[in-house]
Amino acid sequence: MSSAPIGIFDSGYGGLTVMKDIVNELPQYDYLYLGDNARSPYGTRSFETIYHYTLECVKYLFSQNSHLVILACNTASAKALRSIQQKDLPNIDPERRVLGVIRPTAEIIGIHSKTGHVGILGTSGTVNSESYVMEIKQQFPELTVHQEACPMWVPLVENQEYDSDGADYFVKQHIDSILSKSNKIDTLLLACTHYPLLMDKIRQFVGDEITILSQGEIVAKSLANYLKRHPEIEQKCSQNGTRRFLTTDSTDDFNAHANVFWNKEINSEFIDL
Ligand code: DGL
Repeated sequence: MSSAPIGIFDSGYGGLTVMKDIVNELPQYDYLYLGDNARSPYGTRSFETIYHYTLECVKYLFSQNSHLVILACNTASAKALRSIQQKDLPNIDPERRVLGVIRPTAEIIGIHSKTGHVGILGTSGTVNSESYVMEIKQQFPELTVHQEACPMWVPLVENQEYDSDGADYFVKQHIDSILSKSNKIDTLLLACTHYPLLMDKIRQFVGDEITILSQGEIVAKSLANYLKRHPEIEQKCSQNGTRRFLTTDSTDDFNAHANVFWNKEINSEFIDL
């Protein structure tokens, strides 16, 4: 049984929220998840560091026979994807592909907004990169994009506090802040792998009038479409329905924490990069 799994990369556990939707949409393929838990979070790190870490992980997934790698991490998509696609891939192997989560989301966000004002909630790295602003402008030049960095939200989720009363303070703080930028915002994007876990709390402070988008389903549908349009890549992805999980840190920790994101038992494997 030869395996050429679709690689899914994230800085840690969060990309499992994206992988869950991809696997639901496209269950037939083999998947190899890599969480760089030893070096997460990425959200507060510099461009150079995120690029260096992400490239190392992509190369590892290539060495495991992945022809297609999805950067499920927004921060890595914002800070490393373009360099990897333009600078590294032509040298490593022009036949392989690395895709991110920003483009597919930017392609549809305007469809949801009637007022023309959308809000992006992400890590400091994602927000400071301005990647969403640039990508959305290309797709929907008439949209006004408001951004808010929410540095406390990832630690809340990682520490399993996403449901606690303590989380209310930080969720409300950032929701109030982004909504104060314009009273016309009618669509908010959760532009971080972890934020879907905070959905109930976010909804509580946003109210019912505003559409809240999380990325898993959007990315999954976009990937299905991509594979239809690119049979030359699709044919290289093996279809035995397997899922493997790699982590750069403790497998016990990964197995114990990952169920918050994945809802099934995971037996992860350690890799030393
Ligand atoms: N996976 C990251 C993202 O989607 C969040 C966690 C981190 O900062 O590493 O931006």
